[in-house]
Amino acid sequence: MKKIMTYGTFDLLHPGHINLLRRAKEMGDYLIVGVSTDEFNHKKNKKAYHPYKSRKIIVEAIRYVDKVIPEADWDQKVDDIIRYDIDIFVIGDDWKGTFDFLKRYCDVTYLPRTSGVSSSKIKKDREKN
Ligand code: CTP
Repeated sequence: MKKIMTYGTFDLLHPGHINLLRRAKEMGDYLIVGVSTDEFNHKKNKKAYHPYKSRKIIVEAIRYVDKVIPEADWDQKVDDIIRYDIDIFVIGDDWKGTFDFLKRYCDVTYLPRTSGVSSSKIKKDREKN
């Protein structure tokens, strides 16, 4: 069984998220998603509209996702990859190069982002209206 891992905030779900998760799942058999906790978002100067518990429920309901775990720290990825026996780490290419150090533990793939949509754009557009 090929296991895939990805991470993200996944606030205000949009087609860019779904495309990423669909393509991640297509790379293997079992997809684990690390969803940022509210405390971790705070560290990243990010504020999600939906609290962690709600984002977890929403991401868990996506048909491509097999398991959701909390992402609470920058440094947990190596432990997660070992604990869950991950074959491929996948993330959008806005992170290109950042996680190359994980290549010691599994394959690392950066997928092209879906253009024209993001959670922050949705927030900005809503503020305008
Ligand atoms: N993603 C994507 N295409 C988009 C937006 C996001 O492929 N248009 C991917 C990101 O590259 C990441 C995952 O979805 O691998 C989760 O990203 P997240 O940061 O939650 O989404 P954004 O919409 O980029 O959020 P924000 O605007 O707050 O940065």
